[in-house]
Formats: sequence, structure tokens, C-alpha cells
Amino acid sequence: MADPKKLFIKTYGCQMNVYDSERMAEAMGADGYVTTETADDADMVLLNTCHIREKAGEKLYSDLGRLRELKRDKPNLKIGVAGCVAQAEGAEIMRRMPIVDLVVGPQSYHNLPAMARGDAPNIDTEFPLEDKFDLLPERKATRGPTAFLTVQEGCDKFCAFCVVPYTRGSEVSRAASRILAEARGLVEKGVRDITLLGQNVNAYHGSSEAGDFTLSRLIRELARIDGLQRIRYTTSHPNDMEDDLIAAHGDEPKLMPYLHLPVQSGSDRVLKAMNRKHTAEQYLRLIERIRAARPDILLSSDFIVGFPGETDADFAATLDLIRAVGYGQAYSFKYSARPGTPAAEKPELPADVVDARLQTLQALLTEQQRAVQQSMVGRELGVLYEKPGRQAGQMIGKSDHLHAVYVNDPAGKVGELVRVRILASSTNSLAGERISE
Ligand code: SAH
Ligand code: SF4
Ligand code: F3S
Repeated sequence: MADPKKLFIKTYGCQMNVYDSERMAEAMGADGYVTTETADDADMVLLNTCHIREKAGEKLYSDLGRLRELKRDKPNLKIGVAGCVAQAEGAEIMRRMPIVDLVVGPQSYHNLPAMARGDAPNIDTEFPLEDKFDLLPERKATRGPTAFLTVQEGCDKFCAFCVVPYTRGSEVSRAASRILAEARGLVEKGVRDITLLGQNVNAYHGSSEAGDFTLSRLIRELARIDGLQRIRYTTSHPNDMEDDLIAAHGDEPKLMPYLHLPVQSGSDRVLKAMNRKHTAEQYLRLIERIRAARPDILLSSDFIVGFPGETDADFAATLDLIRAVGYGQAYSFKYSARPGTPAAEKPELPADVVDARLQTLQALLTEQQRAVQQSMVGRELGVLYEKPGRQAGQMIGKSDHLHAVYVNDPAGKVGELVRVRILASSTNSLAGERISE
């Protein structure tokens, strides 16, 4: 038999892209490709791209610049562009970069093997009616005991700054029965911790023979799978945090105490201009209800600084909101004007103002993150071992609250969920000791 062909996939952007890359690797695997760790020994390179901010999009072109040299030495090298830049720019990518052999959007990658063989057109950015997931081979468990599982795609929210509704299309939920089957398959392969993914995951509304499913019903159904020990979900919109989902945080033990609930800004004026459709006060009341259901929940958010028209007072309101919530984790970004979005029409703030605000915001968030991490010291938590540490006898895992934890446990095994007493907190991780049962 001929040697298998080698595929190198580089992934940018969100967790959904990570999931998509895994599924594209599986689809190509069924066509005889194995994945490789570098572009240098690959027969095919696939760049799975992100369009969310200007910098993310630019990475594609700098990578393609480097690949041009590789292709000079290896003329048979196939180069594909997938993901949200592929969706947004389509044929333009090939015009700008003739070394690109194929362009495939996020909704069409079930066609990737045929495209790579030359049996299908080399550009596909359709939003097909069929569910691409049904046309893909069965999942593999490639990341040990944890896995992502996309349950919902697309977004109907149209925040004024965001490209996702254009690159991923409108909200579509997968059938609950398919999701449950995929989860069972993953658990059989050793997965213990599943993160449900969607650009608007808490807007999930799927159906099955057993009727309609909300996200909370799906979580409760998943929790009945023996061997599945932890469930998480991301990313949520505040306006879709329904009562039954909040309740699940209080009474479903497998649902982990971690919630990424982006607010973007703490100023009502800016929230309105962003088309977020809620106020700072409504967000704070929501956080109160979530904390009433699950007092130890770790909260995470995304922030955009320097949205067009943001004043010093608006920015101060964001800092106030952060102080009022107390985040354990957060991501913050400078506003980036994206072509085709309503906010891109508005004048931008001076770069030095935005830089200074981002620094102030990040300093506050870092301080909060440290404090929350420090507050774990002395507590007993679940830790799921993901891999051995660098030191002999050491295991590295994630706590219930998604902190990395180092445990000295020579008998520990990857995939084991153990009780750990947290002893110390350092910059990006915790250290603890296993509690013997
Ligand atoms: N659906 C999710 C995630 C969207 S993208 C949500 O609603 O939160 C992830 C984050 O990128 C967003 O939360 C936002 O903070 C940031 N983002 C999106 N568009 C951006 C832009 N044009 N400039 C800067 N940050 C942006
Ligand atoms: Fe983008 Fe807003 Fe949709 Fe999130 S909710 S994906 S930020 S449009
Ligand atoms: Fe980026 Fe597309 Fe995800 S734009 S953040 S890869 S949905």
C-alpha cells in the first residue's frame, strides 16, 4: 500500500474552529490522510481561519506568504483555506494568492475530501440545506478525556461590531438525538468532559423524536450518560439565559461551575449602540440569579474597548461593572472595524486612547483573576487528569472551575477524576494534593 498522505491543519479563532478542524481531519482521514505536526512534511496544508478581528484575518496572508516558498520546493503541495475568512472573502483569496488550491467555508467542509481529489469545484462557500455533520465520519477522541461537541451554529443577534452572523449564517441547532449519539460515542472512547459549543449555545433549540430540546434539557439528558462526568457549554448570550438553564447550574452535579457570559461593555449607551439588547443593570441582576443557583460559579466574559463613540464615562461604567461582578476569567479586545458590519461606518477612537483603556481594563481583570484563583487555596475540588506533568509522578488536570492544577500523584492516570485539596496558587495554575478516598 502507498504511504498515507500527510495533512497539516493550522487552526485560528474560536473553539468551534478547533472542533471543525478535528472533523475535517476525520473526513480527510477517511480519504487516506494522516495528520502531521508541521507544514514541511505535508502533502496538504489547510488553514482554518478566523475573521473576527482584522489581525486574525491578516494571519492568513502572512502564513500564505511563507507557504509560497514551501510550494516552490514542493509544487505538488495542496493548499486549502477553510473557516470564516474563506466564507467572507471566497474567491478573492485565490485571486490574491494563486498558490491556494481550494477555499471551503465552515458550512461546506463535508465536501473537502472531494475538493482535494479534484472531484468537486475548488471553491465552496454555500450554506447547504443538509446537515454537514450527518455527512461526516464518526468522531474520534483525539484530545484525551476532554472533547468539544458543536450543538448549534450561527447567530441571529447581529451585534453591530460582529462578523459571525455573516460568516456562520443564521442560528441552526443540531438534532438532540445526533448530539446524544455523538456524546455516547465519545464517552465510549474515553472522553469524560464534554464542552458543548455554539456561537450562541444557550439559544439551542433542537428537536428529536422525544420532542423539543432546550440547552438545559440537552444537558440533563447528557448527564444521564454513564461515564460522562463533566459538562460545560460556551458561548452564551445574556438574553438567552433562561430560568431552566440557571436552575440546572444549581441542581445538575455534572454541569461544571464555570460560565462564560460575555457582556462586552458596562455602559448602557454603548450596549445599545452595540445592539446587545440588554442593560448593565439587567446583566448584573442575571449574575445575581446565577450566583443564587450556584454560589461558587466562576464567571468569565469578553470585553471590547474603544467601540466607536465610547467616552471616558462609558469606559468607567465598564470598570464599575467588572468591579461589581468579580470575574475569574476574561478576554478583552480592542475594537476592530469589520467590513460589512454597521459599526464599521462609524469613526474610530484615537489609538492611544484605546491602548490606555485596554491596559487599565486588563490590569483590573488580572487582579480579579488572581484573587479568584487565590480563593481556591484550601478548597477541595474535582480535578480531571489530562496529561502527566514534566516532573516525575506529576499529573496536570483541570479543576471544576477550569483552572489548571498540578498534582503530585505517581499512581494517577490520565482520564481519572480525583478529589484534590488546593495548596497553592501561582500565575497561571494551582497546585494541590490528592485526597485519598
Ligand atoms: N458569540 C459569542 C462570541 C463571539 S466572538 C458572543 O456573543 O459573545 C468572541 C468575542 O470577540 C466577542 O465576544 C467579542 O468580545 C469579540 N469581538 C467580536 N467582534 C469584534 C470586533 N469587531 N472587534 C473586537 N472584538 C470583537
Ligand atoms: Fe457576534 Fe453578537 Fe452573535 Fe456573539 S451574539 S456571535 S458577538 S453577533
Ligand atoms: Fe473567528 Fe469564525 Fe470563530 S470569525 S471566532 S472562527 S466563528
